[in-house]
Amino acid sequence: MKKKTYNIVTFGCQMNERDSETLAGFLEDLGFTYEEEKLDAQVVVLNTCSVRENADKRFFGVLGQLKHSHEENPGKLVILCGCMMQQQHIIDAVKQKYPWVDLVFGTHNIADFPKLFDNVYKNHERIIDIKDATKEIAENLPAKRMYDFKAYVSIMQGCNNFCTYCIVPYTRGREMSRKPEDILRECSCLAENGCKEIMLLGQNVNSYAGGMTFAELLREIDKIEGLERIRFMTSHPKDLSDDLIDCFRTCRHLCHCFHLPVQSGSDAVLKKMNRHYDRAHYLERVEKLREACPDIALTTDIIVGFPGETEEDFEDTIDLVKRVRYDSAFTFIYSVREGTPAAKWEDQVPEEIKHERFNRLIDVIHDIQAEKMSELQDQILPVLIEGPSKTDDKMLTGRTESLKTVDLPGDPALIGRIVPVKIVKAQTFSLYGELV
Ligand code: SAH
Ligand code: SF4
Ligand code: F3S
Repeated sequence: MKKKTYNIVTFGCQMNERDSETLAGFLEDLGFTYEEEKLDAQVVVLNTCSVRENADKRFFGVLGQLKHSHEENPGKLVILCGCMMQQQHIIDAVKQKYPWVDLVFGTHNIADFPKLFDNVYKNHERIIDIKDATKEIAENLPAKRMYDFKAYVSIMQGCNNFCTYCIVPYTRGREMSRKPEDILRECSCLAENGCKEIMLLGQNVNSYAGGMTFAELLREIDKIEGLERIRFMTSHPKDLSDDLIDCFRTCRHLCHCFHLPVQSGSDAVLKKMNRHYDRAHYLERVEKLREACPDIALTTDIIVGFPGETEEDFEDTIDLVKRVRYDSAFTFIYSVREGTPAAKWEDQVPEEIKHERFNRLIDVIHDIQAEKMSELQDQILPVLIEGPSKTDDKMLTGRTESLKTVDLPGDPALIGRIVPVKIVKAQTFSLYGELV
């Protein structure tokens, strides 16, 4: 085990990735350096997610792996944080089965990390400190960003929507928005340091309420010198205003793509999910978006097998997918989350039906995706070069404005630059290009 090294394993969404950047910032300020192999690092942080059962399972798997290296290496610290830790039954399980864990904190007290860590590191205390809520959003925390040419900027936290399947409102608490001046300062500072692309983050960015609307905030960010691409996620269809749609006409740097989770195409299911919109509203918003921005790429999240979902409900989802023609979609099999209303309902859909519907849905989605990708053949698109390709390290990889991955041959000196690329081969999940 190497002294003064750390590793952070991040599960879940971009919000967690952003939080891990803050934790890395704290640890680097304390003189720790990053160690690639978690078993070799002195400090290991597991930043957890609880959105589906799979995430829970993966976490317990990694924690099991760490037990041995914790026993073998006195002085090794294992730290748990994130969404799972905001649930009492998880804390009880950790206390009972993993009593050797050194520090546990939650989503509301990340700012206390240096103090908590100090007590554990110097005084060898074991600490479990979970808070139920945050009074205010902590500003000016350090961050070790993953990239210097693109960055996550959190604009709000929490969720007030209480979709009946979802654990997030319980793990992240109520919505709180950062002040526009703090967000704008962070974006300007990033731009001054060479950042080209920012992704604004929140569970529901279009209910931003920091003294101006989300659309107004976007227009301010759009004025910042040096930023070339602005993205945001996630948006809730019920709060998607005409003013936000209009931003796609007027903001020069807003990427022409929109992630708009629909969850289901059936009105009965949407109602039981507590989504506060119906399919007609959703389709009308999509039409408006396409009117404002004809080349907009649309992506979504869909849950299959929500309690009570009938074959007709499911066919309504397939029908909606065919109407909207998404560029891609994240599809999830409904997962029971303890503490949410839907977990207690008796009309759960049998596992085999859920899987069968899931497979039918992804077939439809992939067919449309393949057609959409093939439309890009021979087009010249601006691509932000992000690094070496994952599949072939002699190639580079980058992203189009609509977040599609393109692999291309080129000089690593291009990393961090936006360059024109001709698409020479388009497959369902990947694009290949050449510099022009
Ligand atoms: N706040 C965002 C996304 C939160 S979680 C939004 O509302 O769009 C990301 C996605 O996980 C959700 O959109 C949903 O499709 C999925 N999800 C959440 N809870 C789930 C559950 N219990 N089972 C299966 N999928 C779930
Ligand atoms: Fe979960 Fe719904 Fe909130 Fe999204 S809007 S985080 S799905 S409760
Ligand atoms: Fe998971 Fe928490 Fe994000 S439950 S999806 S890490 S908000």
